[in-house]
Amino acid sequence: MTHPSSNTAGNFPTQRPAVRLYGDEFRRSPTAALQALAALAPVVRVELEPGAHAFLATDYETIVAICRDPQTYVRDSRQWRDYARGRITHTSELLQMMTWRPNVLFADGPEHARLRRAITDSLDRIDLHVLEHDVRRAANLLIDTFISRGQADLVREFTDMLPLLVCTRLFGLRDEDGYRLLDILARIWDGTDAERAGRRLHRLLGDLINEKRQRPAADLTTSLLQHRAGLSDEAVLEHLVLLIGASNTPTSALIGNTLQILLTDEHTGRAVGGHRLTVEQAIHRALWLKAPFTAYPFVYPTEDVSFGDVAIPAGSPIALGLAAANRSMAAHFNGPGADNRAHLAFGVGDHQCPAKDQSLRIATIAIETLLVRLTGLRLAVPAADLTLRPSVFASAYSALPVEFNPQAIPSESGSTCAPMPSSLIRPIPTGRPRHSAHAAPSRRFSFPAMLRRGR
Ligand code: HEM
Repeated sequence: MTHPSSNTAGNFPTQRPAVRLYGDEFRRSPTAALQALAALAPVVRVELEPGAHAFLATDYETIVAICRDPQTYVRDSRQWRDYARGRITHTSELLQMMTWRPNVLFADGPEHARLRRAITDSLDRIDLHVLEHDVRRAANLLIDTFISRGQADLVREFTDMLPLLVCTRLFGLRDEDGYRLLDILARIWDGTDAERAGRRLHRLLGDLINEKRQRPAADLTTSLLQHRAGLSDEAVLEHLVLLIGASNTPTSALIGNTLQILLTDEHTGRAVGGHRLTVEQAIHRALWLKAPFTAYPFVYPTEDVSFGDVAIPAGSPIALGLAAANRSMAAHFNGPGADNRAHLAFGVGDHQCPAKDQSLRIATIAIETLLVRLTGLRLAVPAADLTLRPSVFASAYSALPVEFNPQAIPSESGSTCAPMPSSLIRPIPTGRPRHSAHAAPSRRFSFPAMLRRGR
């Protein structure tokens, strides 16, 4: 539980040494390290990179209490004391993910509610049935590219590509931009040349906004531009950065982490194969055991607080350790036959992920399609050889090499689908003139068809 206190010890050195969330030792076994941290205390001192101090909340109830107390724990990272005092260098790889931006994730109170409405209104226009249809087509398209080989790297060739294919269309980007995005997002999440990648992302999305201002279309970018909240171009750009970053990497990690469990945990793999466990149930099992977010997002206490003997000065970053919290509760809530979905993988409280349903549908359809098409699917390397990406924020495999029975590409599968979307959406009814995007429903590969006609 949280205990705001009048602690004035103020600084870190009086406390237990910080645990490093970087370096070879941590990277060798981050899940075990985080679990050990969770056993230590509900909140522990950590170092995110050399010299970057923070706290990690690893306890389920503590995270829920923090997220339900937005007065004491704000998202506005301009409160980050060490950053404000110049103690974080401008070359820090953390900045792309942590410094304040005018978007919903860093907003509090009424401003958060206003921005969140624009996001949820736009996301609500996605028709889940059409989404399912189009994700299946996209999954087939990708599977077609490697099914005849009998082997593949499911991260590089499937989990990384699928959310990107879906999102590229959803946001109205061109196919070639999808490949650029893949490289940009990997650099931001992994903290490798993140600053330059951030600038490339802003340029790419700035061009997209200019284009959609001139030629509105049936996509989420246009929905945001036309929303009645009247978002400025800068605000739309910031939200596109957030939405694209927030959708691709976590969804890819969700699919990859679930596949890893299916391929390495005989019990779960056999239960899904024998239809005793649905793919969606297996995904929730993966969310208990391997949630994509390990140390993200961050909150900042507005006053000094303490948890047990851990004193936290106001303005210190506290990362939500969602993966560790889930894992420590998994044994209670996720035993054989249990179907409990009270994990924290999508967050909790006002900032809970607004795209939970959509991302679960994407992951479910992607995995179902893969399991139906790839017979004899197995890991091509020992499970112990699988490595994670170097991100401090998220847990995702860097590769999933697999083997399966090679098959010819059936003529009616995804590769025969028309690649370009048809328009099916009307812009949000703002009273402005409507774009003529009222084409009849199409059975073709059509991502904007995910978006319902008006509201
Ligand atoms: C279509 C894919 C996704 C989109 C568009 C998306 C979008 C977003 C957005 C806009 C926020 C900020 C909400 C706010 O601050 O009010 C958010 C928060 C979050 N999302 Fe997602 N997300 C997606 C997939 C995922 C996945 C797969 C996961 C992990 C399982 C996830 C976990 C979270 C978490 C943990 C938060 C923060 C919750 C908090 O602040 O307490 N998201 N997401």
